Amino acid sequence: MDKITIEQILEPVGVANFFKNYWGKKHLIIRRNKFKNLFGWNDFSNYLNRYPHLKGLQIIDYRKQGDGRWCLDKVRKGKLKLPLLSKQKMYKQWTDGKTFVIPFVEYEKKALVDICFEFEKYFGTGQANIYASPKANSKSFPAHADQTENFLFHTEGKTKWTIYKEFTPDKPDEIAEEFVLEPGDLLYIPQYQYHKVDTIGPRILISIHFKNKPNQSIEKFKVTSNKQNGRPEWIAWQPKQKQKSQSQARLMNKRNWSKPYFNKL
Ligand SMILES: [Fe+2]
Repeated sequence: MDKITIEQILEPVGVANFFKNYWGKKHLIIRRNKFKNLFGWNDFSNYLNRYPHLKGLQIIDYRKQGDGRWCLDKVRKGKLKLPLLSKQKMYKQWTDGKTFVIPFVEYEKKALVDICFEFEKYFGTGQANIYASPKANSKSFPAHADQTENFLFHTEGKTKWTIYKEFTPDKPDEIAEEFVLEPGDLLYIPQYQYHKVDTIGPRILISIHFKNKPNQSIEKFKVTSNKQNGRPEWIAWQPKQKQKSQSQARLMNKRNWSKPYFNKL
């Protein structure tokens, strides 16, 4: 995919239209077939196979006490008195139906960093989290409101959403809309608006969320450039050298080797 722009992300809703009519006011559903390859089951499998050599993994509804979560970093640091699970036990949690959260995935894919850079022209610093569930009725979160502007990119399976009319500090009461989103769909939920997710089958979605820039308002709207952004850029680490250097050519000259690596070479 070429460089992602905010126009592409919000298409067919224009950027000006989005900020005028939806930002901070109203949720927005964009149904289309875009960005469904941002992070799929293969990426999830690759990521989880690195366990335990990864950071910040969480299991939702691991236990009845507290907020119910198992957090890899807190368990490792001894802040949470729970066992450090073996890879097999981790997998058992998954097959038992637990929802996994992977925070800070911005740098897992260039496309995710690109999306952050695009949104951060208009918002404060963002963060991308993966929410993955293996089956229907995996416990997710009850109705709640977040302190960030939330963009939810759906990449695998179907997810049922309930959006409430109320914003904090009120309590969730009246349902504004209920719907099911599929791979490629995007949902925007304004800061402080109540919402709820139900898993109706295996699914992955990416939440990319941002705080607002300080004192941002539609009248005096601040847009910053990528240069002003303190986020580390994405680096292509592919070696640039294409031609063989002289020393490499010498090393490749088998006649100069004391012994061939293989007898029949
Ligand atoms: Fe949320």
